[in-house]
Amino acid sequence: MYYDDDIIEQVRSSNDIVDVVSSYVQLKRRGANQIGLCPFHNEKTPSFSVNRNMQIFKCFGCGVSGNVFGFVERIENIGFAEAVEFLAQRAGITLPQKDNRDPEYNRKRSIKESIAAINKEAATYYYMMLRRPGGEIAYNYLKNRGLSDDTMKNFGLGYAGNYSNGLYNYLKEKGHTDEELAISGLFSVSEKGIYDKFWNRVIFPIMDPKGRVIAFGGRIMSKAENAPKYLNSPETELFNKSENLYGLHIAKKTKEKFFLLCEGYMDVIALHQAGFSNAVASLGTSLTERQAKKIKGYTDNVIITYDSDDPGKKAAKRAIPILKNVGLTVKVLNMVPYKDPDELINALGAEEYRKRIEQAVNGFDFEVGLLEEAHNLEDPDSKTQFDHSIAETIALIDDPLARDNHINAASKKYNIDATELKRLVNRIGAALKVKENNEKVQADQKKNRENNPETAKRKTEYILLNLLVQYKEIYFGVKDYLNEDDFSDETEKKIFEYLESDYKRTGVTVGARIIEKFENAEEQKKVADILMTSGDFEDTSGDERRKAFADYITVVKRAAIERKIGEAMSKGDGEKLKVLIAEEDSLEKLKKELLSKKLF
Ligand code: UTP
Ligand code: MN
Repeated sequence: MYYDDDIIEQVRSSNDIVDVVSSYVQLKRRGANQIGLCPFHNEKTPSFSVNRNMQIFKCFGCGVSGNVFGFVERIENIGFAEAVEFLAQRAGITLPQKDNRDPEYNRKRSIKESIAAINKEAATYYYMMLRRPGGEIAYNYLKNRGLSDDTMKNFGLGYAGNYSNGLYNYLKEKGHTDEELAISGLFSVSEKGIYDKFWNRVIFPIMDPKGRVIAFGGRIMSKAENAPKYLNSPETELFNKSENLYGLHIAKKTKEKFFLLCEGYMDVIALHQAGFSNAVASLGTSLTERQAKKIKGYTDNVIITYDSDDPGKKAAKRAIPILKNVGLTVKVLNMVPYKDPDELINALGAEEYRKRIEQAVNGFDFEVGLLEEAHNLEDPDSKTQFDHSIAETIALIDDPLARDNHINAASKKYNIDATELKRLVNRIGAALKVKENNEKVQADQKKNRENNPETAKRKTEYILLNLLVQYKEIYFGVKDYLNEDDFSDETEKKIFEYLESDYKRTGVTVGARIIEKFENAEEQKKVADILMTSGDFEDTSGDERRKAFADYITVVKRAAIERKIGEAMSKGDGEKLKVLIAEEDSLEKLKKELLSKKLF
């Protein structure tokens, strides 16, 4: 925890979960809950429930659950500490200074701040070096590659000169310690000393969406046998390669309805200079799901404009499903006969590139194109393989109409018998269905196991805990009849302990606060699930309600006694067994007593 429990509790109790969720999701009242469409998965009928008494949410569709912090973490995509800060601000609460926080958090934060400060100064240094006497070779290199002064300035391009300690001396003079410099990723550190990592390279600062310099890429200006063409900062506390995209801080402001996704720094820069303000690149690594999600935060459509060579095509084929899976529509642009956007624009100009954008093909056509290249359609065996691969690609299309259209188009274009192709697609489709069905059957079997009597008893325990937390009068009415041993697993026992100690200490308890006491996310989820299990109890009142409750208590107690009987039997503890059996016999009496006493 980064803040102490009291302040967290103050922030939590000042932010009613229903109010907070309402600013993202339209909620309607149903029974004890408010329900709406889940913001965390796509659904047409609402299964997202928020309970004001408990201050908990749970989606019965996708299973996510938690308290107000968990909701904000998920929907704003931030960490716990940030969620506390977010909600504190919402409620007008001033948080204590950060030195009250967890030292580990402080340490990471100060490392980040230190790296950010060093990067900013380093960017200034490289920038100056490019424009100072001695920087001509780099300046001329960039000019020769067609970049204008404005473009160099917009991207903050720079030059690391021919010294092994130019940046080091510059930053030492600014007051940074060797220790700070060592963790920045800009230096090679060994027993021989500490040396600039980048030298004799043009420098590309890498910015995060806020425009903060988080890392650098450096390109060698000549062909060298031993040195890599590009050298990049290593990952640091500030720089996560798989999460950032080069050019995003500019592309995020574009008015275009799509992003251009390319491979290299120079491609992004050339595209921007040619008027395509929507270009980004994935920093020389293959595209990750996190990057795809990040893109989806700014646009719904992507045109892949990777290199036209084999690795580029492979990378595009790999990227298509990653992009589609986060809900982006995907097209692929063809650069042939040029290698990449930079070369195409330099050779043919922006207008030709714009034409290529218009001609970009969807993911399906792109994949079929790859198949076409990979097979010799004149050779009967290769052609047969090709036909099968086409059928496999078509079978993956969900929409039956689209599938038929593709069957007809492919049959004409590649001279495949339409009836045969359709039969093949259907056969492959059927096999896929069988596979899907098997998975579904397995899921159902799992569900059935969960519905067995053992689980039904468990569910009653959950409902009981739910009611004890939600209704103070019920707790005080029945507390003498229950103890933690009545619950079958550790999490439930802990919940019971916590609610009991809350009631004893303060006379009240809150579901959301109980969740907070569990540290690990897995267990927190389980607690939320337990506390959101409410059964039909909400629809009852008066005697009916008391009867339902008496049933719950006896079911739970009976299960507990049976558990203990099992233990006593395996230990051969006859005395204990006698006591337990007598206890079980008296359960009916207990039930009558509960009913006659009108405890709540
Ligand atoms: P490319 O080799 O396609 O280079 O690498 P490029 O973008 O066309 O660069 P120029 O036009 O020759 O200057 C694409 C990207 O892969 C990463 C870089 O991010 C580069 O922009 N890369 C490439 C490296 O990280 N290291 C390398 O040695 C080469
Ligand atoms: Mn290039």
